[in-house]
Order: sequence, then structure tokens, then C-alpha cells
Amino acid sequence: MDEPPDADPVTVTPCENGPLLVRGAFRLTTQGGEEIEPGRRTVALCRCGASAVKPFCDGSHKAIGFTAPSGPDVSC
Ligand code: FES
Repeated sequence: MDEPPDADPVTVTPCENGPLLVRGAFRLTTQGGEEIEPGRRTVALCRCGASAVKPFCDGSHKAIGFTAPSGPDVSC
């Protein structure tokens, strides 16, 4: 039997020089499986390590000059 199409698929978008934007019907949990309430339907997750409110982005990536591409980093 076919699965119904997901009406609200989850997308994760790496922002150039910034966070990961997560949209859709996602669940955010700790490593131990406890729910983290995102408070909204789209969240920005820190990938620079400088946020004071991890796992969320607080804009600190700008202050530290974080750089990363939006797509795969093929320079490695
Ligand atoms: S990506 Fe924004 S604070 Fe880390």
C-alpha cells in the first residue's frame, strides 16, 4: 500500500555563512530523546558553535565571521 504524500515535508536549508533553517513538521529532541519545544514552525539551528542559546541561532555567527557554503563544501 502506498504511503500518502507528506503534506508538510521537512526541509533543512544551510544558509550561507549562517544557521541551518528547518521547516515543516519536524520534531526537535535532545540526544536523549527529550522534546525541545521550538516555539515556531521554522527554526534556525546554530552550526557555528557561538550561539548562547544553542541549539538555536542567536545571530552570533555574524560577529565571529563564520563562513560556510550553502551547499556541499567541495574544497576538502
Ligand atoms: S549559526 Fe547563528 S549563532 Fe551560530
